[in-house]
Amino acid sequence: AYILDHPIGDHESEERIGFSGVPPTALVRSLHRGKSFKIGSLQMFIQNNGSCEDMGPRAFPVKEVHKIAVLDLRLANADRHAGNILVCKDEEGDNYMLVPIDHGYCLPEKFEDCTFEWLYWPQAREPFSDETIAYIKSLDAEEDIKLLKFHGWELSARCARVLRISTMLLKKGAARGLTPYDIGRILCRETVNRDSEIEDIFQEAEGHVLPGSSEDIFL
Ligand SMILES: Nc1ncnc2c1ncn2[C@@H]1O[C@H](COP(=O)(O)OP(=O)(O)OP(=O)(O)O)[C@@H](O)[C@H]1O
Ligand SMILES: [Mg+2]
Repeated sequence: AYILDHPIGDHESEERIGFSGVPPTALVRSLHRGKSFKIGSLQMFIQNNGSCEDMGPRAFPVKEVHKIAVLDLRLANADRHAGNILVCKDEEGDNYMLVPIDHGYCLPEKFEDCTFEWLYWPQAREPFSDETIAYIKSLDAEEDIKLLKFHGWELSARCARVLRISTMLLKKGAARGLTPYDIGRILCRETVNRDSEIEDIFQEAEGHVLPGSSEDIFL
């Protein structure tokens, strides 16, 4: 998630912070109990005042909620519960800042587990700002897939398709003036047993293409 969390403008510093504020994260390989190697992620510790589990969402600025929403919609995050959003006070101690953590279940193979804690927060029903719309416009799933590959992670065909579809949905939705709530409602199931709209669209599209067709034809 850190690699795909692109900064706005030029950020040359080592602690590059992206649009959604994912803390700087590195892929690490470490020796497990002196025997085998384990792969994991090492993330910068962010001083915080707890997580969204500890308080209601009312005081969170719209911008903070939208930056998390954009990340989750792009990456089809299937683990965005309240415990995975840290809450911090800004330097003046006046405003709350939200920090997204725990991105181990982003870019799943299917959309079925997508759930977003913020979906029913009032901020999610506010329109995107011009700055956010410009950021969304700049997103490019193919470039993101290449970037992950450059950093050593080749997405499976299914996960890459999920990234392509969620990026497309976010871009088309934002261009048509949809709110994070509107777009999130398409991605998430309303009840566990009923497919989401995106799952229905996905299945319909799969039914229309011949096996072995190119990804472009599917999209
Ligand atoms: N970058 C960070 N800065 C500060 N605290 C963090 C950070 N990342 C994680 N934590 C703390 O560690 C806890 C667990 O982290 P995380 O959510 O990434 O793992 P998890 O897989 O959910 O772990 P578990 O299953 O044990 O809850 C978080 O709830 C948070 O309190
Ligand atoms: Mg967690």
